Amino acid sequence: MTAAIGRTSAAASERWWVMTHGIGRRDRLTTRLLEATDIEPLDLALRAAYGFEQSHAARLRSYLDTPAVATFVAAEGDAPLGCVFGIDYRNAAYVSFMGVDPRAQGRGIGRALLEALISWSDECGIDSLHLDATPAGEPLYARAGFVDDGETVVFTRPATPGSTSVAPPPATEAQRSAMLARDRVAFGADRRSVLEPLFECPDNHVIAGDDGSYAVAQPETIGPLIASDAVRAGELLDAALAARPDVALRVCVPTQQPAAARLLIARGFTAGRRLRHMVRGARLAADETALWARINLGQG
Ligand SMILES: CC(C)(COP(=O)(O)OP(=O)(O)OC[C@H]1O[C@@H](n2cnc3c(N)ncnc32)[C@H](O)[C@@H]1OP(=O)(O)O)[C@@H](O)C(=O)NCCC(=O)NCCS
Repeated sequence: MTAAIGRTSAAASERWWVMTHGIGRRDRLTTRLLEATDIEPLDLALRAAYGFEQSHAARLRSYLDTPAVATFVAAEGDAPLGCVFGIDYRNAAYVSFMGVDPRAQGRGIGRALLEALISWSDECGIDSLHLDATPAGEPLYARAGFVDDGETVVFTRPATPGSTSVAPPPATEAQRSAMLARDRVAFGADRRSVLEPLFECPDNHVIAGDDGSYAVAQPETIGPLIASDAVRAGELLDAALAARPDVALRVCVPTQQPAAARLLIARGFTAGRRLRHMVRGARLAADETALWARINLGQG
């Protein structure tokens, strides 16, 4: 199966990509959309590029079936060497999983992938691109016009074996609508294309607050955490932790929200990796005081 590219047909996008981008056929390198057979080799390439211990094949597979994700893969023969994804939030997009196999780095693949993604976003009229950059990615993005916009800090906490999980009651339809509306104001763009599958995924616990505030306890990540104030944020965090006592957890926190760090440290988390948050184009009209934790590092 070939993934649809957001808002344009796959065939048109492939033609446009090869015509527009220098790495088209040079060096036996081709550029194309994500295919099911790419998942395993790309997962290995991304693990080698990022030094990931765990597989991200499930997330890559979900991108294959999500029309709101634009997929860009660079390949040599049948072998995929690198990729980048654009998560389409209509007026904004998030750049996800930019990575090139270490054996193929330094050949211009990263730059061409990014140029393609920027052209796609221009074509779609998306005027605000966002990402959380590793030190390796920062220079690439800076040269493409991305500017610094704070940081995202990854907090972690080890598992507390032996504790019993307390599952929250399922969110009602009315609560879900309120959560989507609250999220739109907090983030500054409509993230329903990613949030609805997150809410529906049976592996996740969704904790609904009283005014559209909410948290999602994913299998190893707590996020998003959207809350109007610190009291609600603390209550939602405690409910998320109660739902996931038995696994090591991570929370990706924007530095615009320093109170989130205090809540997490008080609950046994420690600050780890820091990623530069970067923006290209318009800033979003977001309510940053309500954004306590990101979905993860690739989806905002
Ligand atoms: C970042 C990454 C995608 C770049 O891919 P690449 O194919 O090697 O990049 P390119 O060959 O197109 O190089 C692009 C530019 O970045 C520079 N560059 C590449 N790797 C770099 C590094 N590790 N440190 C500093 N600069 C680097 C190149 O010199 C080049 O500069 P130029 O535009 O002036 O020529 C790749 O290094 C990678 O996968 N890194 C590990 C995963 C990662 O951190 N991804 C970014 C997540 S935000």
